Amino acid sequence: MKFCESVFIISVFIQLVSTELSSYNFPENFVFGVATAAYQIEGAFNEDGKTDSIWDYNLHKKPDWVIDQGNGDVACDSYHKWEEDIQLIANLGVDFYRFSIAWTRIFPSGYAGSKINDAGVIYYNKLIDGLLAKGITPMVTIYHWDLPQNLQRNGGWMNETIVDNYVFYARTLFELYGDRVKHWITFNEPFQICESGYSETDLAPFLNDSGVGGYICAHNLLISHGRAYREYERTFKQNQGGKVAITAHSFWFEPQGESDSDRAAAERAMQFWYGWFMHPVIKGNYPPIMIERIDEISQKEGFQKSRLPKFTEGQIEMIRGSFDFIGVNHYTTALASISNNFNEPSFYFDGGVNRTEDSNWVKSSTSTWLNKVPWGLRKLLNWIKQEYNNPPVLITENGWSSSTGLEDSRRVSYLNEYLSELLKAIHEDECNVIGYTHWSLLDNFEWLKGYTARFGLVEVDFNNPDRTRTPRKSYGVYQKIISSRKI
Ligand code: NOJ
Repeated sequence: MKFCESVFIISVFIQLVSTELSSYNFPENFVFGVATAAYQIEGAFNEDGKTDSIWDYNLHKKPDWVIDQGNGDVACDSYHKWEEDIQLIANLGVDFYRFSIAWTRIFPSGYAGSKINDAGVIYYNKLIDGLLAKGITPMVTIYHWDLPQNLQRNGGWMNETIVDNYVFYARTLFELYGDRVKHWITFNEPFQICESGYSETDLAPFLNDSGVGGYICAHNLLISHGRAYREYERTFKQNQGGKVAITAHSFWFEPQGESDSDRAAAERAMQFWYGWFMHPVIKGNYPPIMIERIDEISQKEGFQKSRLPKFTEGQIEMIRGSFDFIGVNHYTTALASISNNFNEPSFYFDGGVNRTEDSNWVKSSTSTWLNKVPWGLRKLLNWIKQEYNNPPVLITENGWSSSTGLEDSRRVSYLNEYLSELLKAIHEDECNVIGYTHWSLLDNFEWLKGYTARFGLVEVDFNNPDRTRTPRKSYGVYQKIISSRKI
């Protein structure tokens, strides 16, 4: 995918004034959670029949992809320390724990109909049962970026045969765990899976096919999501009574200036990020502005047809409405502005000016700093309300990265201020937000930032073979918010 298609320029927005905290209470049925993902915490990369995912394979081949040459071989060792994790989750007092299942533990070859790996199945049974025994609701992300390398050999998300393999894997999870798991997220952050993994080199499989890779990946992914949703609806929903969703990442894009062109650029940015996936899922088909713009640019570039693939009418109908709630991962806000040059990258992050509270969360070699802009969350929630007719929204990730240290006052103020804006969105704007998930329970393997960006409410000592876990100040603050139901 080429981002000149959306033609906007982004720079990190600077928040100079801190937000006044809200005194509203969280509504009675509002739920709190905490999240992790398999490759980032489990370790045990080759134990008990597990095979290589695209992350294992690529980071073993070229450790330099990662800033500190880290990888997920051991990570937090949660494959062995899951009981300790459950205790930390229980003490925190959250309603649910969002974690992901490693495809390579369930189907080592990745393929539909291939042999199930019992040891992998048992691991997640223990985890799910352990959570339920402590009164914690399990929420499963079916795919959090760790595709079996065996399927990548065959093109991964760019080969349409991935759809059958994914749907078979998802259906197997519904069969194995659906008696106890009632909340499923088909995909985590499709934009990053496809754009960062297939169009660029920010995530595995590092394909760098900027012309079409991201679009084809996204197309197959959306069809996979729709089919998995319909499979659940048809075969499992009546007996299991669960809910299925997809979760996408979104910045809030604030127009840089007052002009119509800046406003249009910000709106396009929202459609090219969140709308790319949510528009098909909620309204059917890609956002009109994407279809229009990519057609236009494809023609200018001399392609015979648009680089954006087309859904059939049947696929549009199958995907439209394939959600029981929608997920959003939100971290920060960016400024959008018009760029006149189609050949320029239309999209860059400028982390270099006047940062007040930044963290070391960096997008690859460019500098995407995480800045604290709490009101961006409220605006984003209002945009979702307007654009999609106020669907139930679960914030599936939000959090702050720092370096090591237990006195994480910046994470505390980030948490307080973002939750405060969330309360205003619920009480003053009537946004239908059903819950909040903090990323993350533990410091973990932060992709290309390795172990240098720490997102945990709990610090993990990666120099210690025991991977000792120590709750930070923010852990206590979140605990208190949950128990008092206010900030
Ligand atoms: C998005 C991803 O879902 C998660 O894996 C990552 O660690 C966090 N955001 C922070 O970058």
